[in-house]
Amino acid sequence: MERDQLVDLTRRALKLARDKTTDLAPAEHTVGADDYTSPERHRLDQAMLLASPQLVGYVSELPTPGSYCTKTVMGRSILLTRTADGAVKAFDNVCLHRQSQVVTGCGTAKRFSCPYHAWTYDNTGRLVAIPGREGFPGVAVKSAGLTELPAAEFAGFLWVALDPAAGLDVAAHLGELADELDSWGIGRWSPLGEKVLDTPINWKLAVDTFAENYHFATVHRQTFATIARSNCTVFDAFGPHHRLVFPLNGILELEDIPEEDWDPFKYMVVIYALFPNIVLSVTIANGELFRIYPADRPGRSITVHQNSTPLDVSDESVAAGAQAVFDYAHATVRDEDYRLVAALQTNLESGARERLLFGRNEPGLQHRHLAWDAALRRLIPSRAE
Ligand code: FES
Ligand SMILES: [Fe+2]
Repeated sequence: MERDQLVDLTRRALKLARDKTTDLAPAEHTVGADDYTSPERHRLDQAMLLASPQLVGYVSELPTPGSYCTKTVMGRSILLTRTADGAVKAFDNVCLHRQSQVVTGCGTAKRFSCPYHAWTYDNTGRLVAIPGREGFPGVAVKSAGLTELPAAEFAGFLWVALDPAAGLDVAAHLGELADELDSWGIGRWSPLGEKVLDTPINWKLAVDTFAENYHFATVHRQTFATIARSNCTVFDAFGPHHRLVFPLNGILELEDIPEEDWDPFKYMVVIYALFPNIVLSVTIANGELFRIYPADRPGRSITVHQNSTPLDVSDESVAAGAQAVFDYAHATVRDEDYRLVAALQTNLESGARERLLFGRNEPGLQHRHLAWDAALRRLIPSRAE
């Protein structure tokens, strides 16, 4: 991000901190508990994700021609490769023979041999060898291949379209946020792996936990609240996406420092919610990515948590330190946010109360739900009434 913009955000954050307030939505807002529990809404949510470009990782996960990585997106196994000419490709990781997963993990390889009967594919997806060839007279080696999905690298991230018919226009999807996301460079920092949370909460409830810091003083009293202020957020919407700036406790020190001497990024965490299911958190030390997916029922979701670091992880002690930061952030989400809202999900499913209330001090939360509702209205025009 440009320094001018960073200073401007810091000025706004400092004013909120000084005034002990937060950016406010015009009014309170309510949503129905059944948004989180109804099977019909769950099916619509899944359709909404299928129709939207999906951010699946950092470009640094495919550093060189010949690199590959595998991703699970909405339960679907996907292979991404960087081919000899540097292009990124994506395929369903499903063997043409009996649908085994062909590849696991990540690394470098020109060819992929299926672990079941060794049908072999190159990194452009082409089928190049079948052992026991006479058993498959109907399969045309060289013209057959893995099913390809639209793929792109953009703004430092890897993107795929799960529905080829939906296309993949990431520039249009991100709009004016594209350059800003790219400018952080977090997608080019060293990736530190993936941690997966399979949780008994609706996927939107998982996203909600990242959409306000009103809960810091209570839920994260011993953790994040020791470094970041509670109920104090700069909020900006960018189409269906939003950006929050969470000021750190030390921000009031800036009162006594002239703006030209500010080191603004030391005093904030920047959180993006990218429509519909992605959360990015940027700090001076790391770039966290949360990919949040609906699972088999409304009350279950999968969160894939990734982290990247600007530090040189070829040094073992630096790598261990970066992993420790990742472990800490992950444990906090798992043991504080997600554990608390698992019981909230049970309340929603009990039918005890019909609606949830979002305060004026929770503009990110309001914006998330309004953006999802607008997308569903476009998906199903009859929901417009
Ligand atoms: S399932 Fe892949 S070779 Fe048989
Ligand atoms: Fe939280």
